Amino acid sequence: MITYYIKKIIKKLIKPFYLSLDDMVVEIDLDSFNKNKLALNENLKLQYCEKNMLKEVETQFGFIVSNEFKGRLDESRGYFAVLKSKPSEVIAWAWSCDKLRKDEGARGFHYDVHPKKGSVYIFDVMSVPTKRNIGAMTFLLSKILEDNLQQGFKKAFLTHNKQNKAMEKITSKLGFSNVGQISYRRLFGNETKDIKNLLRCTQ
Ligand SMILES: CC(C)(COP(=O)(O)OP(=O)(O)OC[C@H]1O[C@@H](n2cnc3c(N)ncnc32)[C@H](O)[C@@H]1OP(=O)(O)O)[C@@H](O)C(=O)NCCC(=O)NCCS
Repeated sequence: MITYYIKKIIKKLIKPFYLSLDDMVVEIDLDSFNKNKLALNENLKLQYCEKNMLKEVETQFGFIVSNEFKGRLDESRGYFAVLKSKPSEVIAWAWSCDKLRKDEGARGFHYDVHPKKGSVYIFDVMSVPTKRNIGAMTFLLSKILEDNLQQGFKKAFLTHNKQNKAMEKITSKLGFSNVGQISYRRLFGNETKDIKNLLRCTQ
């Protein structure tokens, strides 16, 4: 009993210095991506993230986001879902690349992702909170798969939090299959990771 409480106290004490991330890796073969599954959505339109859109991004999401996007434009392709009725308003975004910028990462972890030749990595997947569950990300990911297929890529993969039921639903609906789990841990600046399942999609 005492050991139980001691463990609990220790956990609480180290919590501010402890970071953990458990993600699922999912992958899709673009050749077999069935175009019939493409989520046609009459209300939405695809917009590529280009320099001339950054001002609008800054107005909507602030300087940090627009600056982050600006820094990615050379290596990655940014996709926005916008409402046809209001094309200046971004309601969801996602990025893909075949060569990830060095300092890309999530929640304090740097992702060391180098997609295999012919593969693309989809990352920074986000729908505006007030516009969720209206099909924006299903639409956007479909468009990204279609776009990358047209550019000659064979496979696409992404990671999402293990508990992210919405991503689980969307990716399985689109035909992604589960590659496995990965984990990142950091305690007092000391980082450990188990990313062997990610390495199956990377070099
Ligand atoms: C995950 C996220 C991108 C989904 O975007 P979205 O635009 O709402 O997605 P869609 O509307 O296309 O689809 C959501 C699907 O998940 C389902 N869903 C939502 N919450 C769910 C839950 N808790 N359990 C099960 N299914 C759920 C919806 O019903 C919908 O499925 P349906 O179309 O078959 O009804 C959005 O919630 C988000 O930005 N979350 C925060 C950032 C994030 O988690 N990014 C992913 C990191 S890779």
